[in-house]
Amino acid sequence: MAVSLILDLSWYHLVGLLFVGFISAAAVRTVRNVYFHPLSKFPGPWCAAATSLTSAFISWRRVEPEWLLGLTKKYGMDTPIRIAPSMLLFPRPSALKDIYWDPVCNFKTELYGTGALGPPQLFTTRDGEVHRRLRKALGGTQWSIGYLKNNWESRIDDQIRLFVEKMTDLAERKEDVVLCDKVAEFAADIMTMVSFTEPWGFVQNSRDERGLLASWREGLDFFGVAGRWQWFRRHILTNDWLAGYFLPSGDDRSGMGYLYAQADRQVSLREAKMEAEGKGFYMERPDYLQYCLDARYESGAPLTPVEKRAHVTLLIQAGADTTATALGSTLRFILAQDGGRVLAKARAEMEAAEREGKLSDPIAYEEARRHLPYIGACIKEALRLNPPATNLFARLTPSSGPNSKAKLIDGVLVPPGTEVTTNAYVVQRDPDMYAPDPKAYRPERWLEAGDKGAMEMEASQFVFGVGPRVCLGKEIANMELWKVVPQVVRCFDMELLEAGTEARKLRPG
Ligand code: HEM
Repeated sequence: MAVSLILDLSWYHLVGLLFVGFISAAAVRTVRNVYFHPLSKFPGPWCAAATSLTSAFISWRRVEPEWLLGLTKKYGMDTPIRIAPSMLLFPRPSALKDIYWDPVCNFKTELYGTGALGPPQLFTTRDGEVHRRLRKALGGTQWSIGYLKNNWESRIDDQIRLFVEKMTDLAERKEDVVLCDKVAEFAADIMTMVSFTEPWGFVQNSRDERGLLASWREGLDFFGVAGRWQWFRRHILTNDWLAGYFLPSGDDRSGMGYLYAQADRQVSLREAKMEAEGKGFYMERPDYLQYCLDARYESGAPLTPVEKRAHVTLLIQAGADTTATALGSTLRFILAQDGGRVLAKARAEMEAAEREGKLSDPIAYEEARRHLPYIGACIKEALRLNPPATNLFARLTPSSGPNSKAKLIDGVLVPPGTEVTTNAYVVQRDPDMYAPDPKAYRPERWLEAGDKGAMEMEASQFVFGVGPRVCLGKEIANMELWKVVPQVVRCFDMELLEAGTEARKLRPG
């Protein structure tokens, strides 16, 4: 009977029925999400509570940090804000410990599991225990500042010399320079060098090699939308055939797809070399590719072939654009602030240290730390106001097992199975922690606060993440920042032509 009824309907009746069905289902879901969901009692915009499409749209419009900050103005800093059907934003730095240090919450949300960043790796591994094992295999002393200074600093110095030489050429030709592009080329070279020993030539050739940076930046829009839009994530990206239309492929001749293909090639070449040379194989200063091949789980097992390849690409994904943004925005703040006031102070500090013969060329990391506190404060203040990774780094409160009870976060009880997050852009503008004038770029605040105050402010930062998933490359990023920013101040007279607003698309090579 039902079949014959359907056959009697014309196609536009069927489309109409489907449409009505779809709208009704969406309406029921909206009512349920807004009024009958376990998070209904938390404040937040109804359109964000109704559907995850809202936060996906906001991310796609690239206004998420400002939107989140706006919400704290409307709903206050003292309460978690519902920013998606199943997600709460905690605006205060005091929530960091409860969310990111408690092993009970060490489970990343679906946002990480889209596949948009390739096969699972450290950053995208959701399960806390699986992550612990992987991090134990891949982390270690090679990421400590002592090791980095001994093994990488002189090689970073070579890249700084090349960078200064290229910039000097441009200055002598009196060409306008887009600083954020130049430092992005530098940061990308450092990451390709750390990963594969030889830099890929971004600085040497003054271009975005294989469109790597441009493709990453374009991909971020997709990553943002896919991570936030639950329906798309669950129904499109889980289908291999459909996902293929959206995700990079190893057949691509540029961008992330090219990077995957390179990782594959480099792993195979290095393994062949190791096999050919047997016990005679030795690298005096191993690169990250080698760490991935040498990494062992607690059981003694090596990484799988897919894991090796996924992790070789990870550093470039995680550390090139982020550090580039940090370098670019620090220089922009220094140049743009108060008609050159900050630049003048930075230069005066630099000249005093020079006169006393305290600085090598290029400046050593330790020298910058010791003798250039104001420039250091400029870096910290830029990372505070313009954190390069402002994503929603959400965790899940357990919904099953012995810990699946309401969890206390920053004094508020949160139902099991809730996605909980903070946001660097918001917590790092906390009105109490960063008083006075938390929105102003004022490097002096780091020096005025004294050691104790500065340590407290530091502990309230979320720029590199917090807890067992904290950024693995934090010390490399800091080394780049503390060496390059003063070097630029030292070597160039700069005049700001255009402050710019956000990261640009680079010219592909
Ligand atoms: C200023 C530059 C950087 C910023 C702001 C930054 C930020 C972050 C943040 C916020 C996380 C944690 C995200 C989370 O909780 O899910 C993270 C993780 C990570 N970062 Fe960075 N990062 C920077 C530079 C780098 C560099 C240079 C490298 C590589 C040398 C790197 C490698 C990683 C890795 C491998 C992870 C995953 C760690 C794990 O889950 O165990 N990052 N980064």
